[in-house]
Amino acid sequence: MLVQIPNVLTPEQVRHCREVMARADWVDGRVTAGHQSAQVKRNLQLPEGSKAALEIQDLVLNALNRNPLFMSAVLPKKIFPPLFNRYDAEGGMNFGSHVDNAIRTIRDTGERVRTDVSSTLFLSSPDEYDGGELVIEDTYGTHAVKLPAGDMIVYPGTSLHHVTRVTRGSRVASFFWTESMIGDVTRRAMMFDLDMSIIRLNADHPEHPSVISLTSLYHNLLRQWAQT
Ligand code: NI
Repeated sequence: MLVQIPNVLTPEQVRHCREVMARADWVDGRVTAGHQSAQVKRNLQLPEGSKAALEIQDLVLNALNRNPLFMSAVLPKKIFPPLFNRYDAEGGMNFGSHVDNAIRTIRDTGERVRTDVSSTLFLSSPDEYDGGELVIEDTYGTHAVKLPAGDMIVYPGTSLHHVTRVTRGSRVASFFWTESMIGDVTRRAMMFDLDMSIIRLNADHPEHPSVISLTSLYHNLLRQWAQT
């Protein structure tokens, strides 16, 4: 299940992130890569725990916590503090096919996060660079994703994915993982479909008694399946 979440950040927030990133020092992206992905990863990252990373990390986390579509699609239990990466045309940066590590440890707390859902929040606008598509393989085929600045894609952490070589300009993004209250991808997708259907039904027929019964069904299923 791929879900596109528009306007996670406002244009002003994107501009602020870009200003902070423009002033920051970058390091080789292999610092957070596992053994397999380190062999195919060619990009730059803001150092974890750096002043720049912490400042814009907070901004992204606050935006996520206010975003109803993210909440519904992901049902977050723990969010790994967002990281920031950059792919430059100079050096032909790209990230070959890989699957993200199943478990991530939060640096400061030692807390472990199971990476049920991967997210990429685009911070460059598509006209600033060529290449740099995020290509995700799921059970329904291969999807190339390149979104407006401020928009985000969420996809199952189980998917193989890669980022194609940037051939012009520079692509910056935030990326992170979330442990969901519902680890099973099929159940999580059904909960999302049910929630979206209730929202549509409520918009079209606000008085319809099924709004209440389906909402009740949603919460009772969540009670059955959620691990909090
Ligand atoms: Ni990845």
